[in-house]
Amino acid sequence: MSDPALPAARPTVDPRRLSAVPQPAGQRAPGGTQGGTVFDIKGVDVFYGDFKAVKEVNFTVTRNEITALIGPSGCGKSTLLRSLNRMNDLIPGARVEGTVAYHGKNIYDQGVDPVEVRRRIGMVFQKANPFPKSIFDNVAYGPRIHGVKRTELADIVEDSLRKAALWDEVKDKLKQSALALSGGQQQRLCIARTIALSPEVVLMDEPCSALDPIATARIEELMVDLARQFTIVIVTHNMQQAARVSDKTAFFSTEVNELSDTRTGVLVEFDDTQRIFTTPSDERTENYVTGRFG
Ligand SMILES: Nc1ncnc2c1ncn2[C@@H]1O[C@H](COP(=O)(O)OP(=O)(O)OP(=O)(O)O)[C@@H](O)[C@H]1O
Ligand SMILES: [Mg+2]
Repeated sequence: MSDPALPAARPTVDPRRLSAVPQPAGQRAPGGTQGGTVFDIKGVDVFYGDFKAVKEVNFTVTRNEITALIGPSGCGKSTLLRSLNRMNDLIPGARVEGTVAYHGKNIYDQGVDPVEVRRRIGMVFQKANPFPKSIFDNVAYGPRIHGVKRTELADIVEDSLRKAALWDEVKDKLKQSALALSGGQQQRLCIARTIALSPEVVLMDEPCSALDPIATARIEELMVDLARQFTIVIVTHNMQQAARVSDKTAFFSTEVNELSDTRTGVLVEFDDTQRIFTTPSDERTENYVTGRFG
């Protein structure tokens, strides 16, 4: 199950040590209590065929923090996010250049198994996408295909549903179809399905964009709680959400290529979230976060 080409992930935290009570980002120790760089992204360009969608991206992701990627539509947030767990490999013509170092090892190096990369670095999508299976089978799916023993599945399902703050709502109907859950519940189920594989990092691409404000608040609380155990990178169009939940923010924008009349995404600024939203150093960031642009 482990890939010798990748450095060992840190051991999974004992779930019993995790409090079920979510805390706002401000109440967590800055940088998480464990510190440490999980990703060091250096000079990353992502192409779709000849088209350079994002260029020269450099930033770091710190353990137990929430890092938000923000910026106008088309600036490459989803593209960059997918490059962090080799999800772009699944798109024909997509290509990543530069280095995505995960605990010091480039995940694009020869010999690195992309399936193992995606187990360590899980992903939750914009639209909840439960399988047309029971609630139990959705969460058990990943562990099953990774060969986890049948006798261990029930514990993993319960633990994952608890961590995703869904257990109390579904514990009496685990055999029912996941498709009968509400949108917000489906998204929490997808989070449970992702964390059932004990990843270290959870990537989330606009996980609340299809949800109402109450379901959104629930997921935001959940993210803050999950950041005690996991490292989270989230794409969001919701400025308040980025400001509320994240520790660091990367602001992307686009540059027009005059010759080809195409737009390439660039990272304008990366800093503590508080700084990005109060005293950004680039005028483009200020215009965006104050709503004057985009
Ligand atoms: N599968 C693909 N094939 C070709 N080009 C793509 C593909 N996916 C994205 N692109 C292009 O890459 C650029 C960045 O797209 P991306 O979806 O990453 O932007 P985004 O910042 O996530 O936008 P949004 O906020 O609308 O989700 C865009 O010009 C887009 O058209
Ligand atoms: Mg996107």
